[in-house]
Amino acid sequence: METVIGLVNRIQRACTVLGDYGADNALPTLWDSLPTIVVVGGQSSGKSSVLEGIVGRDFLPRGSGIVTRRPLVLQLYKTEQGREDYAQFLHLENKKFTDFSLVRKEIQEETDRVTGRTKQISPLPINLSIYSANVVNLTLIDLPGLTKVAVEGQPESIAQDIENMVRSYVEKPNCIILAITPANQDIATSDAIKLAREVDPAGERTFGVLTKLDLMDRGTNALDVLEGRSYRLQHPWVGIVNRSQADLNRNVDMLSARRREREFFATSLEYGHMASRMGSEYLAKLLSKQLESVIKARIPGIMSLINQSINELERELHHLGRPVAIDAGAQLYTILELCREFDRVFKEHLDGGRPGGDR
Ligand code: GDP
Ligand code: NA
Ligand code: MG
Repeated sequence: METVIGLVNRIQRACTVLGDYGADNALPTLWDSLPTIVVVGGQSSGKSSVLEGIVGRDFLPRGSGIVTRRPLVLQLYKTEQGREDYAQFLHLENKKFTDFSLVRKEIQEETDRVTGRTKQISPLPINLSIYSANVVNLTLIDLPGLTKVAVEGQPESIAQDIENMVRSYVEKPNCIILAITPANQDIATSDAIKLAREVDPAGERTFGVLTKLDLMDRGTNALDVLEGRSYRLQHPWVGIVNRSQADLNRNVDMLSARRREREFFATSLEYGHMASRMGSEYLAKLLSKQLESVIKARIPGIMSLINQSINELERELHHLGRPVAIDAGAQLYTILELCREFDRVFKEHLDGGRPGGDR
Protein backbone atom coordinates (compact mmCIF):
# COMPACT_ATOMS: atom_id res chain seq x y z
CA MET A 1 0.00 0.00 0.00
CA GLU A 2 2.95 2.26 0.56
CA THR A 3 3.62 2.52 -3.16
CA VAL A 4 0.01 3.51 -3.68
CA ILE A 5 0.22 6.48 -1.30
CA GLY A 6 3.58 7.40 -2.84
CA LEU A 7 2.01 7.35 -6.30
CA VAL A 8 -0.92 9.47 -5.14
CA ASN A 9 1.61 12.02 -3.88
CA ARG A 10 3.51 12.02 -7.16
CA ILE A 11 0.35 12.47 -9.20
CA GLN A 12 -0.74 15.32 -6.93
CA ARG A 13 2.59 17.04 -7.38
CA ALA A 14 2.60 16.60 -11.15
CA CYS A 15 -0.95 18.03 -11.28
CA THR A 16 0.21 21.06 -9.29
CA VAL A 17 3.09 21.68 -11.69
CA LEU A 18 0.75 21.34 -14.61
CA GLY A 19 -1.69 23.77 -13.01
CA ASP A 20 1.14 26.32 -13.00
CA TYR A 21 1.30 26.05 -16.78
CA GLY A 22 -2.38 26.88 -16.92
CA ALA A 23 -3.12 23.65 -18.77
CA ASP A 24 -6.83 23.16 -18.92
CA ASN A 25 -7.97 19.57 -18.52
CA ALA A 26 -9.73 17.10 -16.27
CA LEU A 27 -6.92 16.74 -13.75
CA PRO A 28 -8.32 19.07 -11.11
CA THR A 29 -11.07 16.47 -10.70
CA LEU A 30 -8.44 13.81 -10.11
CA TRP A 31 -6.66 16.04 -7.60
CA ASP A 32 -9.91 16.66 -5.76
CA SER A 33 -10.63 12.96 -5.45
CA LEU A 34 -7.32 12.23 -3.70
CA PRO A 35 -7.30 12.38 0.09
CA THR A 36 -5.28 15.03 1.93
CA ILE A 37 -4.86 15.90 5.59
CA VAL A 38 -5.51 19.51 6.58
CA VAL A 39 -4.48 21.13 9.87
CA VAL A 40 -7.15 23.45 11.24
CA GLY A 41 -7.30 25.54 14.39
CA GLY A 42 -7.19 28.93 16.02
CA GLN A 43 -4.14 31.14 15.88
CA SER A 44 -1.27 29.81 17.99
CA SER A 45 -3.20 26.65 18.88
CA GLY A 46 -0.08 24.67 17.88
CA LYS A 47 -0.85 23.70 14.27
CA SER A 48 2.64 24.18 12.86
CA SER A 49 4.17 22.52 15.93
CA VAL A 50 1.91 19.45 15.49
CA LEU A 51 2.96 19.19 11.85
CA GLU A 52 6.62 19.32 12.81
CA GLY A 53 6.00 16.66 15.43
CA ILE A 54 4.42 14.38 12.82
CA VAL A 55 7.33 14.90 10.42
CA GLY A 56 9.90 14.67 13.21
CA ARG A 57 11.94 17.58 11.82
CA ASP A 58 12.32 21.26 12.61
CA PHE A 59 11.52 23.24 9.53
CA LEU A 60 8.38 25.34 9.97
CA PRO A 61 8.09 28.94 11.10
CA ARG A 62 6.27 28.91 14.45
CA GLY A 63 5.60 31.32 17.25
CA SER A 64 3.03 33.59 18.74
CA GLY A 65 0.89 35.63 16.39
CA ILE A 66 0.05 35.09 12.73
CA VAL A 67 3.11 33.25 11.45
CA THR A 68 1.58 30.94 8.83
CA ARG A 69 0.17 33.24 6.17
CA ARG A 70 0.02 31.00 3.09
CA PRO A 71 -1.14 27.39 2.81
CA LEU A 72 1.79 24.98 2.93
CA VAL A 73 1.24 21.77 1.00
CA LEU A 74 3.65 19.30 2.51
CA GLN A 75 4.31 15.94 0.88
CA LEU A 76 6.25 13.33 2.81
CA TYR A 77 8.11 10.57 1.02
CA LYS A 78 9.59 7.64 2.86
CA THR A 79 13.05 6.77 1.54
CA GLU A 80 15.41 3.89 2.29
CA GLN A 81 17.40 3.89 5.52
CA GLY A 82 20.84 5.38 5.27
CA ARG A 83 20.07 8.15 2.77
CA GLU A 84 20.36 11.74 3.88
CA ASP A 85 17.06 13.56 4.48
CA TYR A 86 16.32 16.42 2.13
CA ALA A 87 13.57 18.86 1.23
CA GLN A 88 12.58 20.40 -2.08
CA PHE A 89 10.27 23.27 -3.00
CA LEU A 90 8.16 23.28 -6.12
CA HIS A 91 9.14 26.90 -6.77
CA LEU A 92 12.86 26.02 -6.51
CA GLU A 93 12.90 22.68 -8.23
CA ASN A 94 16.63 22.42 -8.77
CA LYS A 95 17.61 23.00 -5.18
CA LYS A 96 17.89 20.24 -2.58
CA PHE A 97 17.79 21.45 1.03
CA THR A 98 19.64 19.27 3.51
CA ASP A 99 19.83 22.03 6.13
CA PHE A 100 16.27 22.25 7.47
CA SER A 101 16.78 25.64 9.09
CA LEU A 102 17.17 26.95 5.53
CA VAL A 103 13.81 25.36 4.68
CA ARG A 104 12.21 27.48 7.40
CA LYS A 105 13.96 30.59 6.06
CA GLU A 106 12.80 29.85 2.52
CA ILE A 107 9.16 29.40 3.69
CA GLN A 108 9.35 32.78 5.42
CA GLU A 109 10.89 34.49 2.39
CA GLU A 110 8.53 32.85 -0.07
CA THR A 111 5.59 33.90 2.13
CA ASP A 112 6.84 37.49 2.16
CA ARG A 113 7.43 37.41 -1.60
CA VAL A 114 3.67 37.12 -2.14
CA THR A 115 2.20 38.88 0.89
CA GLY A 116 4.87 41.53 1.37
CA ARG A 117 6.34 41.97 4.83
CA THR A 118 2.87 42.57 6.19
CA LYS A 119 0.47 40.50 8.21
CA GLN A 120 -1.59 39.85 5.08
CA ILE A 121 -2.50 36.33 4.02
CA SER A 122 -2.58 34.73 0.57
CA PRO A 123 -4.41 31.61 -0.63
CA LEU A 124 -1.51 30.81 -3.01
CA PRO A 125 0.04 27.61 -1.63
CA ILE A 126 3.73 26.89 -1.08
CA ASN A 127 4.56 23.31 -2.09
CA LEU A 128 7.24 21.44 -0.17
CA SER A 129 8.36 17.81 -0.38
CA ILE A 130 10.37 16.09 2.33
CA TYR A 131 12.31 12.88 1.65
CA SER A 132 13.30 10.90 4.71
CA ALA A 133 13.57 7.35 6.02
CA ASN A 134 11.82 8.49 9.19
CA VAL A 135 8.53 9.73 7.77
CA VAL A 136 5.37 7.96 6.73
CA ASN A 137 3.96 8.73 3.29
CA LEU A 138 1.48 11.55 3.83
CA THR A 139 0.26 14.79 2.28
CA LEU A 140 -0.39 17.42 4.93
CA ILE A 141 -1.56 21.01 4.55
CA ASP A 142 -0.74 23.73 7.10
CA LEU A 143 -3.09 26.71 7.01
CA PRO A 144 -3.28 30.17 8.57
CA GLY A 145 -5.00 30.12 11.94
CA LEU A 146 -8.63 31.02 12.43
CA THR A 147 -8.92 34.38 14.13
CA LYS A 148 -11.62 36.74 15.34
CA VAL A 149 -10.07 40.17 15.05
CA ALA A 150 -7.83 41.97 12.59
CA VAL A 151 -4.51 43.32 13.85
CA GLU A 152 -2.59 46.38 12.69
CA GLY A 153 -1.87 46.12 8.98
CA GLN A 154 -4.60 43.58 8.26
CA PRO A 155 -7.79 44.29 6.35
CA GLU A 156 -11.04 44.19 8.39
CA SER A 157 -12.13 41.19 6.37
CA ILE A 158 -9.17 39.05 7.54
CA ALA A 159 -11.15 36.75 9.87
CA GLN A 160 -13.66 35.98 7.12
CA ASP A 161 -10.91 35.65 4.48
CA ILE A 162 -9.06 33.05 6.58
CA GLU A 163 -12.25 31.17 7.39
CA ASN A 164 -13.18 31.05 3.70
CA MET A 165 -9.72 29.78 2.81
CA VAL A 166 -9.81 27.05 5.47
CA ARG A 167 -13.36 26.13 4.53
CA SER A 168 -12.40 25.69 0.86
CA TYR A 169 -10.06 22.90 2.00
CA VAL A 170 -12.11 21.17 4.69
CA GLU A 171 -15.44 21.09 2.89
CA LYS A 172 -14.11 18.62 0.32
CA PRO A 173 -15.33 15.17 1.33
CA ASN A 174 -11.88 13.67 0.68
CA CYS A 175 -10.26 15.97 3.24
CA ILE A 176 -9.15 14.49 6.55
CA ILE A 177 -9.41 17.23 9.17
CA LEU A 178 -6.83 17.54 11.95
CA ALA A 179 -8.77 19.74 14.34
CA ILE A 180 -6.29 21.35 16.73
CA THR A 181 -7.55 22.59 20.11
CA PRO A 182 -5.30 23.81 22.92
CA ALA A 183 -6.02 22.06 26.24
CA ASN A 184 -5.80 25.32 28.17
CA GLN A 185 -8.88 26.59 26.37
CA ASP A 186 -12.51 25.50 26.71
CA ILE A 187 -13.34 22.90 24.06
CA ALA A 188 -16.76 24.51 23.64
CA THR A 189 -15.05 27.58 22.20
CA SER A 190 -12.72 25.68 19.86
CA ASP A 191 -12.70 27.24 16.38
CA ALA A 192 -11.41 23.98 14.92
CA ILE A 193 -14.23 21.88 16.37
CA LYS A 194 -16.81 24.48 15.37
CA LEU A 195 -15.76 24.35 11.73
CA ALA A 196 -15.25 20.57 11.72
CA ARG A 197 -18.73 20.06 13.16
CA GLU A 198 -20.18 22.13 10.32
CA VAL A 199 -18.48 20.31 7.45
CA ASP A 200 -18.28 16.83 9.04
CA PRO A 201 -21.22 16.58 11.46
CA ALA A 202 -20.84 12.81 11.92
CA GLY A 203 -17.17 13.19 12.87
CA GLU A 204 -16.11 10.62 10.28
CA ARG A 205 -13.14 12.44 8.84
CA THR A 206 -12.14 14.61 11.78
CA PHE A 207 -9.22 13.77 14.09
CA GLY A 208 -9.35 15.71 17.34
CA VAL A 209 -5.91 16.81 18.52
CA LEU A 210 -5.48 18.34 21.96
CA THR A 211 -2.27 20.37 22.33
CA LYS A 212 -0.68 22.15 25.31
CA LEU A 213 -1.60 19.45 27.83
CA ASP A 214 1.42 20.66 29.81
CA LEU A 215 -0.18 24.08 30.22
CA MET A 216 -3.37 23.03 31.96
CA ASP A 217 -4.13 24.51 35.35
CA ARG A 218 -3.13 22.39 38.32
CA GLY A 219 -5.95 20.12 39.44
CA THR A 220 -7.62 20.03 36.02
CA ASN A 221 -7.16 17.40 33.33
CA ALA A 222 -8.38 16.67 29.83
CA LEU A 223 -9.75 13.16 30.31
CA ASP A 224 -13.29 14.19 29.35
CA VAL A 225 -12.00 15.39 25.99
CA LEU A 226 -9.44 12.62 25.37
CA GLU A 227 -11.95 9.89 26.25
CA GLY A 228 -14.52 11.36 23.89
CA ARG A 229 -17.08 12.51 26.46
CA SER A 230 -16.86 16.25 25.73
CA TYR A 231 -17.06 15.95 21.97
CA ARG A 232 -17.52 12.61 20.34
CA LEU A 233 -15.71 11.73 17.11
CA GLN A 234 -15.53 8.43 15.23
CA HIS A 235 -11.74 8.48 15.68
CA PRO A 236 -9.97 8.65 19.03
CA TRP A 237 -8.69 11.98 20.31
CA VAL A 238 -4.91 12.34 20.56
CA GLY A 239 -3.20 14.45 23.20
CA ILE A 240 0.06 16.25 22.36
CA VAL A 241 2.83 18.09 24.17
CA ASN A 242 4.79 20.32 21.79
CA ARG A 243 7.65 22.61 22.63
CA SER A 244 6.79 25.78 24.51
CA GLN A 245 7.85 29.22 23.34
CA ALA A 246 10.64 29.09 25.95
CA ASP A 247 11.81 25.77 24.42
CA LEU A 248 11.80 27.34 20.97
CA ASN A 249 13.82 30.30 22.23
CA ARG A 250 16.34 27.85 23.74
CA ASN A 251 16.48 25.80 20.51
CA VAL A 252 15.34 22.56 22.17
CA ASP A 253 15.68 20.00 19.36
CA MET A 254 13.07 17.59 18.05
CA LEU A 255 14.64 14.47 19.56
CA SER A 256 14.58 15.89 23.08
CA ALA A 257 11.09 17.26 22.48
CA ARG A 258 9.79 13.82 21.50
CA ARG A 259 11.55 12.18 24.42
CA ARG A 260 10.02 14.69 26.79
CA GLU A 261 6.59 14.18 25.26
CA ARG A 262 6.87 10.41 25.73
CA GLU A 263 7.98 10.90 29.32
CA PHE A 264 5.15 13.33 29.98
CA PHE A 265 2.55 10.69 29.10
CA ALA A 266 4.38 7.67 30.51
CA THR A 267 4.80 9.27 33.94
CA SER A 268 1.46 11.10 34.06
CA LEU A 269 -0.98 10.10 36.79
CA GLU A 270 -3.94 11.10 34.64
CA TYR A 271 -2.82 9.92 31.20
CA GLY A 272 -0.43 7.07 32.01
CA HIS A 273 -3.04 4.41 31.21
CA MET A 274 -3.43 5.77 27.69
CA ALA A 275 0.22 6.70 27.07
CA SER A 276 0.59 4.37 24.08
CA ARG A 277 -2.25 6.20 22.29
CA MET A 278 -0.91 9.71 22.90
CA GLY A 279 1.76 11.88 21.32
CA SER A 280 3.10 13.00 17.94
CA GLU A 281 4.56 9.68 16.84
CA TYR A 282 1.31 7.85 17.52
CA LEU A 283 -0.64 10.54 15.66
CA ALA A 284 1.60 10.11 12.58
CA LYS A 285 0.97 6.36 12.52
CA LEU A 286 -2.76 6.80 13.06
CA LEU A 287 -2.99 9.23 10.16
CA SER A 288 -1.00 7.08 7.79
CA LYS A 289 -3.27 4.14 8.56
CA GLN A 290 -6.34 6.29 8.01
CA LEU A 291 -5.03 7.60 4.69
CA GLU A 292 -4.33 4.07 3.57
CA SER A 293 -7.81 2.83 4.39
CA VAL A 294 -9.43 5.84 2.75
CA ILE A 295 -7.44 5.23 -0.43
CA LYS A 296 -8.34 1.55 -0.36
CA ALA A 297 -12.02 2.40 -0.04
CA ARG A 298 -11.72 4.82 -2.94
CA ILE A 299 -9.88 2.42 -5.25
CA PRO A 300 -12.81 1.81 -7.62
CA GLY A 301 -13.62 5.53 -7.92
CA ILE A 302 -10.00 6.57 -8.35
CA MET A 303 -9.49 3.82 -10.93
CA SER A 304 -12.30 5.03 -13.12
CA LEU A 305 -11.12 8.65 -12.80
CA ILE A 306 -7.65 7.57 -13.78
CA ASN A 307 -8.89 5.70 -16.81
CA GLN A 308 -10.86 8.79 -17.76
CA SER A 309 -7.77 10.93 -17.15
CA ILE A 310 -5.64 8.66 -19.33
CA ASN A 311 -8.08 9.17 -22.18
CA GLU A 312 -8.20 12.92 -21.69
CA LEU A 313 -4.44 13.18 -21.31
CA GLU A 314 -3.99 11.34 -24.59
CA ARG A 315 -6.38 13.72 -26.29
CA GLU A 316 -4.65 16.69 -24.71
CA LEU A 317 -1.24 15.47 -25.84
CA HIS A 318 -2.63 15.08 -29.33
CA HIS A 319 -3.55 18.78 -29.32
CA LEU A 320 -0.23 19.97 -27.97
CA GLY A 321 2.87 20.32 -30.09
CA ARG A 322 3.26 24.04 -30.28
CA PRO A 323 6.66 24.99 -28.83
CA VAL A 324 5.07 27.03 -26.05
CA ALA A 325 3.52 23.88 -24.66
CA ILE A 326 6.65 21.75 -24.45
CA ASP A 327 6.90 21.91 -20.67
CA ALA A 328 3.22 21.30 -20.20
CA GLY A 329 3.51 18.39 -22.63
CA ALA A 330 6.34 16.88 -20.61
CA GLN A 331 4.25 17.19 -17.45
CA LEU A 332 1.31 15.54 -19.16
CA TYR A 333 3.55 12.64 -20.18
CA THR A 334 4.73 12.34 -16.59
CA ILE A 335 1.17 12.26 -15.28
CA LEU A 336 0.11 9.84 -17.97
CA GLU A 337 2.92 7.49 -16.97
CA LEU A 338 2.09 7.85 -13.28
CA CYS A 339 -1.57 7.13 -13.98
CA ARG A 340 -0.63 3.99 -15.90
CA GLU A 341 1.65 2.88 -13.08
CA PHE A 342 -1.10 3.60 -10.59
CA ASP A 343 -3.53 1.59 -12.68
CA ARG A 344 -1.08 -1.32 -12.82
CA VAL A 345 -0.31 -1.26 -9.08
CA PHE A 346 -4.00 -1.19 -8.23
CA LYS A 347 -4.83 -4.04 -10.59
CA GLU A 348 -2.04 -6.08 -9.07
CA HIS A 349 -3.32 -5.15 -5.68
CA LEU A 350 -6.85 -6.25 -6.51
CA ASP A 351 -6.12 -9.42 -8.49
CA GLY A 352 -2.81 -10.42 -7.02
CA GLY A 353 -4.25 -11.29 -3.64
CA ARG A 354 -1.84 -9.04 -1.80
CA PRO A 355 -4.18 -8.37 1.08
CA GLY A 356 -4.05 -5.22 3.20
CA GLY A 357 -1.20 -4.22 5.44
CA ASP A 358 1.59 -5.07 2.98
CA ARG A 359 3.95 -2.37 4.09
P1 GDP B 1 0.05 27.85 15.14
O1 GDP B 1 -0.06 29.33 15.10
O2 GDP B 1 -1.28 27.19 15.41
O3 GDP B 1 0.74 27.26 13.95
O4 GDP B 1 0.92 27.50 16.44
P2 GDP B 1 2.49 27.31 16.60
O5 GDP B 1 2.86 25.90 16.33
O6 GDP B 1 3.20 28.38 15.83
O7 GDP B 1 2.64 27.52 18.18
C1 GDP B 1 2.23 28.72 18.79
C2 GDP B 1 2.91 28.87 20.14
O8 GDP B 1 2.41 27.91 21.06
C3 GDP B 1 4.43 28.65 20.08
O9 GDP B 1 5.02 29.56 20.96
C4 GDP B 1 4.60 27.24 20.61
O10 GDP B 1 5.84 27.05 21.29
C5 GDP B 1 3.46 27.12 21.61
N1 GDP B 1 2.98 25.73 21.73
C6 GDP B 1 2.41 24.95 20.78
N2 GDP B 1 2.07 23.74 21.25
C7 GDP B 1 2.43 23.73 22.57
C8 GDP B 1 2.34 22.73 23.62
O11 GDP B 1 1.87 21.59 23.43
N3 GDP B 1 2.81 23.10 24.85
C9 GDP B 1 3.36 24.35 25.09
N4 GDP B 1 3.80 24.60 26.31
N5 GDP B 1 3.44 25.29 24.13
C10 GDP B 1 2.99 25.00 22.88
NA1 NA C 1 1.33 31.11 15.52
MG1 MG D 1 1.29 28.07 12.09
